This record gives sequence, structure tokens and C-alpha cells, in this order.
Amino acid sequence: MRTPLVMGNWKLNGTKESVTALVNALKAPAAANPKVEVAVCAPAIFIGLVEQLAAGSALKYGSEDADIHNSGAFTGENSPVMIKEFGCKYAIVGHSERRAYHNETDEVVANKFKAIQAAGLVPVLCIGESLEQFEKGETNAVCEKQLKAVIDVNGIDAFKNAVIAYEPIWAIGTGKTATPEIAQNVHANIRALLAKYSKDVADSVQILYGGSCNAKTAYDLFKQPDIDGGLVGGASLKAPDFTTIIESATKAL
Ligand code: 13P
Repeated sequence: MRTPLVMGNWKLNGTKESVTALVNALKAPAAANPKVEVAVCAPAIFIGLVEQLAAGSALKYGSEDADIHNSGAFTGENSPVMIKEFGCKYAIVGHSERRAYHNETDEVVANKFKAIQAAGLVPVLCIGESLEQFEKGETNAVCEKQLKAVIDVNGIDAFKNAVIAYEPIWAIGTGKTATPEIAQNVHANIRALLAKYSKDVADSVQILYGGSCNAKTAYDLFKQPDIDGGLVGGASLKAPDFTTIIESATKAL
């Protein structure tokens, strides 16, 4: 039985005031839903604040990205070791926005995954297809290619301590959620690919759905056998909506 994980990805949003209000509001639902793990991934500049606010609570947190290097002349970057020092559990890696706007290739993503894990963080590997690829029926092929690139560099056992998030790009921030059936099919295919390498890993790894996962769509998605929670963008910025999503994960158990 896999523990459901509901994770917010705040992206480039927030102020000191809004972050304080949001984290304070999420501590109670995180505690009230003990069978669900709840986490928020924050812009790096807010992670220290989240650390202070979340101290002693059930709320876990992470970064939205991490560099490959742990130190050196890499202006503007945040290293996995620094992120770990601030109490993060998770680091998102390979989000489609980073692949698109920061030219992160499969190779870069695989190496970031390695650095994140080496620092003692849990990588949350994002994979997913564009609208054009979806319309051409290439969804599974794209996901397999992105996943294999990480397996080739890190080995299948690396996924004993990692999370996968399937995020169809056409559903991100568009209000168009993949139907539970579409998402379930892709998740089952991801698990089948992993099972070719290791049945244990395939059975144990959490596979989250992301892409307009919101208070209305979450329950039906989470009811699917291969969907183990959500990576939530816009709806994670609103405490009542994110709380409903957390509660949906408990109800779907
Ligand atoms: P939205 O929930 O805003 O569609 O974003 C999804 C996402 O990209 C989470 O990483």
C-alpha cells in the first residue's frame, strides 16, 4: 500500500505575508490527514521562512529545482546540499517549465536527480508530453524516454527513494485536467515500464498526477489505482482548495 502524497508547487508565487498565512493554514489539515503525506515546494528564497513556520508540524517541504553542483562559481543557483540544510525533504526535478524555459535536457535532469539524491533529498521527477505529442498519440513514448534517461544514469533502485509526477503539459495551468481514465492509463504504463526493471520498485514508487489537479478533480483522480496523489500548482496557493485536495486523498483511500 503506497502512502498518498499531496504536494504543492508554488512556482514563482508568494510574498512573505502570503507564505506565512498559507503555511500556517496548512498545518492543521496536514495533521488531520495522517494517512496522507502533505508537502509544499517553495521558491528557494522562501524556504528558510517555510522551515521556521513548519517546524514541529506534519507539513513537509521542498524546493522547486536544484543545481547539479554543490558549490562553486554558478551564480544564481541553489545546491542540493544547501536545500537539505534548510530541512527540505523533497526537490522537484525536470518540471516541464524548467525543461522549456531553462533548456533542461533529459541528461541534465538525470544528473540533477543524482545530485539531489546524493544530498539526501527525495527527487520528484516530472515527466509528461506536449499537446502536439498527446494529439499524435505519443504520450507513453515520451514518458518512457524521459524516465529511461533517468534510469540509465541512476539505476532502477534509485526509484526506491524517489517520486514520479506525470504532468501532461497541455493540462498545466490550462484548467484542462486529463480525465481520470487518461491519467490512469499513463500511470499504469509508467508502472509497467518500471516493472520490467524491478517489480518491487514498480509496486512501491509513488506516481503523482499534476496538471489542473484541483478541489473539483482531485478525488476522481486519486481514486484511480495507479494515481498516488497530486502535484498541484495553482490550487496549492489557496489554503481552502489545497485542504480539500488533501481531504480528497484521505477519502480516496
Ligand atoms: P497547475 O495545477 O497550476 O495546472 O500546475 C501543475 C503543475 O505544473 C505542478 O507542478
